[in-house]
Formats: sequence, C-alpha cells, structure tokens
Amino acid sequence: MSTLADRPALPVVGIRVPHESAQLHVTGTAMYTDDVAAHTPGVLTAWPVQSTHAHAHVRIDVSGAYDVPGVVRVLTADDVPGVNDAGVHEDEPLFPSVAQFFGHALVWVLGDSEEAARLGAERVTVEYTPLPSLITVREALEAGSFQGNERTVSRGDAASAVRDSPHVFEGVTEFGGQEHFYLETHAALALRDSEGQYFVQSSSQHPSETQEIVAHVLGITASEVTVQSLRMGGGFGGKEMQPHGFAAIAALGASLTGRAVRLRLNRTQDLTMTGKRHPFHITWKAGFDDAGHILGLEAALTCDGGWSLDLSEPVLARALCHVDNAYWIPNLLAHGRVARTNKASNTAFRGFGGPQGAFLIEDILGRVAPRLGIDPLELRARNFYQPGQTAPYGQVVKDAERLDDIWTQLRAESDLDARRAEIAAFNARSPHVKRALAMTPVKFGISFNFAAFNQGGALVHVYKDGSVLVNHGGTEMGQGLHTKMLQVAATALGLGLHQVRLAPTRTDKVPNTSATAASSGADLNGGAVKNACEQIRDRLARVASRMLDVDAEDVRFGGGYVTALGKPTQRFSFAEVVGSAYLQRVQLFAAGYYRTEGIHWDARVMQGSPFKYYAYGCSATEVEVDGFTGATRVRRVDIVHDVGDSLSPMLDIGQIEGGYVQGVGWLTLEELRWDTSDGPTRGRLETQSASTYKLPSFSEMPEDFTVRLYENARETGAVYGSKAVGEPPFLLAFSAREAIREAVAAFGPAGRAVELPSPATPEAVYWAVRAAQQGHADGADPRLAAAGAE
Ligand code: MTE
Ligand code: MOS
Repeated sequence: MSTLADRPALPVVGIRVPHESAQLHVTGTAMYTDDVAAHTPGVLTAWPVQSTHAHAHVRIDVSGAYDVPGVVRVLTADDVPGVNDAGVHEDEPLFPSVAQFFGHALVWVLGDSEEAARLGAERVTVEYTPLPSLITVREALEAGSFQGNERTVSRGDAASAVRDSPHVFEGVTEFGGQEHFYLETHAALALRDSEGQYFVQSSSQHPSETQEIVAHVLGITASEVTVQSLRMGGGFGGKEMQPHGFAAIAALGASLTGRAVRLRLNRTQDLTMTGKRHPFHITWKAGFDDAGHILGLEAALTCDGGWSLDLSEPVLARALCHVDNAYWIPNLLAHGRVARTNKASNTAFRGFGGPQGAFLIEDILGRVAPRLGIDPLELRARNFYQPGQTAPYGQVVKDAERLDDIWTQLRAESDLDARRAEIAAFNARSPHVKRALAMTPVKFGISFNFAAFNQGGALVHVYKDGSVLVNHGGTEMGQGLHTKMLQVAATALGLGLHQVRLAPTRTDKVPNTSATAASSGADLNGGAVKNACEQIRDRLARVASRMLDVDAEDVRFGGGYVTALGKPTQRFSFAEVVGSAYLQRVQLFAAGYYRTEGIHWDARVMQGSPFKYYAYGCSATEVEVDGFTGATRVRRVDIVHDVGDSLSPMLDIGQIEGGYVQGVGWLTLEELRWDTSDGPTRGRLETQSASTYKLPSFSEMPEDFTVRLYENARETGAVYGSKAVGEPPFLLAFSAREAIREAVAAFGPAGRAVELPSPATPEAVYWAVRAAQQGHADGADPRLAAAGAE
C-alpha cells in the first residue's frame, strides 16, 4: 500500500516541532473566543438566570430586569422564531418551562455591560412548583428512570460459561464522573452583517453542528450561518455537543437587537450548567479457569446521562465496545442503559465511554487476582488478545501481537522485576507507608462508531507566489491538530513548514464537518489535506515535467524545490513552477476529501467492524500510599505507546503525558459531589470551584515520567502511517489505580482482595487501608466496616 510517492524524500511529518501556537500560548497572546468578543464594538453581554431547584415547573417574570440601566433585552421562549431546542434529539429546550436540574439556564439577559446583564438577571423573578427529583444513578435505577435505547454486546453463551466456570466472582463496580475543567470556559460571539448573514465565533469542537443548531433556533438555513472555531483553550469532549445552545443564545440575541452578542460562562456557571464524564453503576458476574483465563462475563451497565440524551447513547456504545479492553473474553453479555437524572446532561469526555468500559475489566482483574492466587501482572498478560482473535462485536483485533510485544518491552525498560523486589523489601520494613508497582494495557478502537462521521474535508489554496493556505474541517483545542495538518501539507507538497499557513476553521470554507473527536482529527482531516495537496501536486508535476523535460511520474517535490529523477543538477523552486502553472491556466487550489474505508457497524445489534484500527499501549506506575492519611504519590511512570509512525513526536508525547495525568485525576483526585439531601438545595453541585474540586496540578505530576513511542509501528490504513493519539493514553492511568490497590493490600495479610472506590481519593484510600489492616474480606464495604470497628 505504501508507495514511494507516499514517502517523499524530505518529509516534514515525523519531525519534532513545537505546537504552532506554542509561542502565543506561553506569551498570553493567543486569541480565544472571548478575546475576539472583547474587541467587537458595541457588543452586548448575555447572562443566564439559573434554576435554584433540581426539578420544577417555572413561571418567569422578566419585567424587573428592564428596570436595571443598561439592560437591553431579556431572551425568553417567546423570542424563538425557529425551534426552541439546543440539541439534536429535540429533548433539550433552550428555554425550558420545566427546570430539569439545579443550575439550568431558564432565560438570558442581554446588557450593555456584564454588570448590567448580571444585575438584570437578579431582578428576574421565578416562581417554582417543585417536582420529585432523581439525583444519583442509584435513585434512577430504583425509580426505573431511563432514556434512549438500551444496547447489548453479546458473544457466545455468557450465562452458562460463567455458571460452569471453576471460579465465579460477582460484584458491583461504581465510579464517578469527571469535570472537563478546560481552561477556557464555554464562549460564543454572534453578529449579523449588513447582508443578514450570521457570523458566530464559537468555542466548539463541532462547528458544523453548532451551525445547524443556530439555524434551527433562528428558523433559517445553514447557508445563512457561518461558524468559526478559532482555537479552544481545551475541549476534552466537553465542547463536542454542549456549545450549540450557547452559540444559539448569542445568535438569537444578535438577531433581536441587531448588535453583536457575547456569551462567556464564568467558572461556576460552566461547572453547574454543563455536562461531565458519565459516572457508571455496573453489576457483574465473571467466570475464570484455574489458570486465570476469563471464560465468561455478564455485566449490566448503567450510565448517568443527566437530564437529556446529548451524546449518552454513543458514549454507552463505546463503553460496551471497550469492556474487553485488551483481553479475550470468549463469552460475553454486556447490557447497557442510560439513566435519566436531574443533573446537567453528561457528555463526551476523552475516551468517550471507552475508559468507563475498560474500567470494569481492570477492576475485576484487580479484585480477583488475589483470590485466584495469581499475580495481577500475570493474570492480565495471560488474557491478552492473540493474533486472529476477534472482539466481542465481531471485529478482528488487528495487530494484537503488539500487546505482548509492548508489555514485554515495557517490563524490561521499566526494570520492573528488580523494582518489584525492592518494593517488597521496602514494604517489609515500612509498616505505615507502602509502595506498589502495577502494569496495565490499553487497546482502543479508532473511528467514530457512527460510520457517517468518518469523513473529512479540506480546502487548500496555492497563491501565485507559491505560498500555501490550508483550510480543513478539524478544530484546534491544544492537541496540536493544526500543527500536524501543516506537517501533512508541507510533506505532500514538498515544502518546508514555514511555507504553509493555516486558516481558522470555518464552516464556509469546509462544510458538513464532523466533530473533532474520537481522536480521529488527524486521520480524517489529514487524509483530506493530503488529498487536496496531492491533486495540486499532480497538476504541478505535469507543468514541471515540461520544464524539466521528463515524464510527470519522475518529477519530485521536496525541500521547497521541484526536481526530476536522474537529473540531479536541474531544479526549480516551488514558486517558479507555481508561477508557470498560473500562466498556463492550471488550477492552483483544491478541495480535499477523505472517507475511512472498510468500516461498518450495525448499531442495533452492536455487531460489525466499527474501527479502522486499534491503538495500543502499556503503562507501569509505582505509587506510595501513606497509611495514616491515605495520601498517595506517584513515584514513577513508564509508558510505551503505539501511535503508528508518529506525525509529530513531540506533540504525541505531550498527548500521552497529558492523557495519562488527566486519567489519574479522574481515578484518584477528582470527586464531583451533589447535594442529595431532601433540603432546599437538593441537586446542587457542591464542588463548584477549584477549591472544592481537586485537579491534578504540577505537584501531582509523577516524579519520574518516561514516555516512549512504540517503534516501527506503521499503520497502513491512516495518513503517513500514523495512528490517532488523543484519547487512548487516558486509559493508561489504570495502572496508577491498580498500584494503589496493591499498595493498600500490602497493609493487610497477604492474598486478600481490595475493593477500591473510585475516585480513590485520600479519604477513600484511608478507609481502604483501615479495612485491609483489619483483614476484611472482599465484599465488605470498607467504610462501613471501619466505622463499625470504631
Ligand atoms: N489535548 C488538549 N491539549 N486539549 C484537548 O481538549 N481533547 C482530547 C484529545 N487531546 C484535548 C486534547 C480529546 S477528547 C480528543 S477526542 C482529541 O484530543 C481530539 O483531537 P484529535 O482528534 O485531533 O486527536
Ligand atoms: Mo473526544 S471525548 O472524542 O472529544
């Protein structure tokens, strides 16, 4: 598949270059949505009136707001000319008549200044008629409150396989959600020009869908709305579907007032109004043979979708497709449902359900290893997929041998066996502080399960002077997609990186784009950029063949020059060939297109080959647990991760480090708490600032952190042999959780299983240590057991 032409003489892909905006980021000069808004003359500011009930009918009187000087307009349901809905399922009224969660935005006040809008919002009166509310997933389960479709992944006969297994275990696995905490909160700016065309700058991972929703709400066509996503200060999935309503509010305001409207959530508004990673409640039963091979698994997964569907169904589907993680499960029955609760609508978050699915099997293996009497390291490796085996949904696990290979490499490079011996010696002489070292693998499927999203577009212009401007459909959120696209364009046209420029992502340049999500930004848009550049290059090759007097196939582009095979002394600059092409009336721009071939998926029965390929990786984490406080410290991390042939090694390593640390945050620090009492603030998010929601910061970075890219890893199916990198490394964090589990176990008698709540906060770890010290068996709630012993 790889042709010579596919690998130019002087590629710019694969080279270590910094992020294209790195200098702007670190000097504070990069422009974000609200910076653009701040420079817009006459701009109005929008401010929400948020519900103070978890669930209630509302009667709203906005008249008081108009007494505040500077209040220009209050936006309500009566103002919507089109559809009063912010989502794609018609279940998300933009202006609700029933508040569905504590913090739900009911109406929006527009003011000349932020202060005017805020004071105006305080003068809006809301009469609440409270309704019963469901806050936790357990409450939803008891009440039978679900939404959307149930899904099942099934292979073989899980029930009899489990029943007939020599070793059967069952349990409940629960874990919390996660706040995105992107540095830039949700923001939009909308204006209408003199021709009636709307321009919306939105901090959106999915500008085309933002455009669609704005058009729906305004009752106009998509062609009347242009959405631009300049760059985001982080998205992490939180800006895949949730920006639309905010953009629609700004656009509605612009349509009614004729002025530009700016909307930027402050941190508390963002935390209380927008959805998070889905927490899950899972019941399971698993069977193993004497050697520790998994024979069967039955699992019922319930994720907490919040008040509306948003992306809950596809998140659940990805979770169900990742309950196997890296392991061969011959008989599986995994059933999934989306609970409906009175909370903000949960949404995409790095991994998109994948981490939640894989959590289950990693939790099971960590819990049962001591009871099987098998080293967890050994138990994991014994169950790895072998070449030729298929995933439970029917897809062949391509390159499965990489699991063993990466595992073995990491085990050697992290000096694992010697260090485990040292740790055992340390633990033997250290009664109050224990250490452990655990390794976990990841296998992550790349492509959107929804097949139609697997397409990308680009528009590449070459100007007469030989300079190049690249437009593509992907958005930049810090992950480095734009840098990679510049590298792809430079490589395809045989130019230096300085000879190509990138334009902001806009729906009037490339239409009908997919969300920049599922880690496939570089695959899809890179395929499209390469396609556009190759069209231009092929046209230029014909022009150059006449200039060089050779066949077009023998023309080569590299380093900014155009040369011919066998004529080493003759060359033209790229600009010279371009100038000549223009005079000969050769088209110097091209629309590029890419669609992922060979994937298919039946969402109803959850069978097919939804993924183009899998990304693999393994991590080894050493932790230290303080038995007095429950505090944990990550001492050392080693990772080997498969990104194919890296498009941009420095960026990829940054993604792996960032993904890992974000995963450790989810599993060990970040705890979302809601008021679950029956009091007046039931349903209120209690962790609504950085002082109560603990994020990983510089001080939580592993002291010793080594990331290696798996070598000779060419992926034939994707652009220049690369693989997606954005999400899979998030799942590498499981080794930190498993190391904590093993360190906690070291406080108690050998061979005992440890149940660890998630997140494994210091508080949770403290109680787990107490339970281990008292030798409680698996199954006991460590908190109850410890409390009872007081
Ligand atoms: N990296 C940074 N710095 N900021 C982000 O918001 N989002 C992650 C990942 N890495 C994110 C990030 C998520 S959820 C995805 S799906 C991918 O980047 C999206 O970008 P890609 O498809 O270009 O990898
Ligand atoms: Mo990422 S959760 O697919 O935006």
